[in-house]
Amino acid sequence: MTNVEWRSSLGASIGNLGFSDKLQRMGILFISIPCPIKKIRKASTPIPVIALNSSCINLSFHFNPMKNNKPLFNLFFLLLPVFSYGQEEKIDSAAIEHERIRWNKSLTRDTTYKFNKEANTLVVETVKGLKPGKALDLGMGQGRNSLFLAKNGWSVTGVDIADEAVAFALKRAKESNVSIDAHVTPMETFDFGTNQWDLVVHVYEGCFEPARVSKIENALKPGGVLVFEFFHREAGIKMKRPTFGCERNSIKTAIDRSGGFKILHYTEEVGIADYGLKKYKMVKLVALKK
Ligand SMILES: C[S@@+](CC[C@H](N)C(=O)[O-])C[C@H]1O[C@@H](n2cnc3c(N)ncnc32)[C@H](O)[C@@H]1O
Repeated sequence: MTNVEWRSSLGASIGNLGFSDKLQRMGILFISIPCPIKKIRKASTPIPVIALNSSCINLSFHFNPMKNNKPLFNLFFLLLPVFSYGQEEKIDSAAIEHERIRWNKSLTRDTTYKFNKEANTLVVETVKGLKPGKALDLGMGQGRNSLFLAKNGWSVTGVDIADEAVAFALKRAKESNVSIDAHVTPMETFDFGTNQWDLVVHVYEGCFEPARVSKIENALKPGGVLVFEFFHREAGIKMKRPTFGCERNSIKTAIDRSGGFKILHYTEEVGIADYGLKKYKMVKLVALKK
């Protein structure tokens, strides 16, 4: 009998199911079905397994190609990541809830938390030469970049999970007589659209997965610009967080691999990071959608 662990999308174990010895010989297989976003947002406690839609489950059982003597079956699973390339972003709702709480606090209430409250310099420098159009700010935070863009004539859409930070941004926008179309939702499930944006801002939002690059490429208009900035892996090592930050050349490679961009600017250099306000090696990229 193979043991199948059945988990809610929030990570709570619902139970175990028994499968036959035949399945056991197959090894490990993961089936993950994302949860509708509205349900995730309501799920602010780790309990609501019953409240969740029945599609919000992750099923896992063991599959080991070495133990399975069916070559075609093995080939299918080995190629699965290739078929999935660029298709869908994974969502971990427990992690998102943790981030929501953390960023609401850091960006709006924690007076000791150090970050640059002015717009990101790479964003400011990049848009200097551009005609204002439609901008998408992925992870808008407390709105420093969205607000700057809106004040400079851009029509801005922002996405973020931190509801209090977004509310703070909208309050500042109102005070400045500008508007921001803000969406409190994870960017993984937000519809970026197709050929929609003249500018996509992805700063201090982690490194790139192929699925994210593919969504951004599809969402930008031809001639639209992507601005990216994040910590380098060497910064992560310096912070004693060895898996944090983007590995050397990984962002450039991800953009090159997509084939849809022309890189206008790419650096991996030490500078003052907007978050933490300390000297760290940073990855910066500006790319034009072909
Ligand atoms: C370091 S702050 C950066 C905010 C903004 N980009 C800036 O440069 O000021 C990270 C932001 O990402 C948001 N965030 C984290 N995970 C997210 C997700 N999966 N979807 C949308 N926003 C997310 C957090 O709520 C937080 O506001």
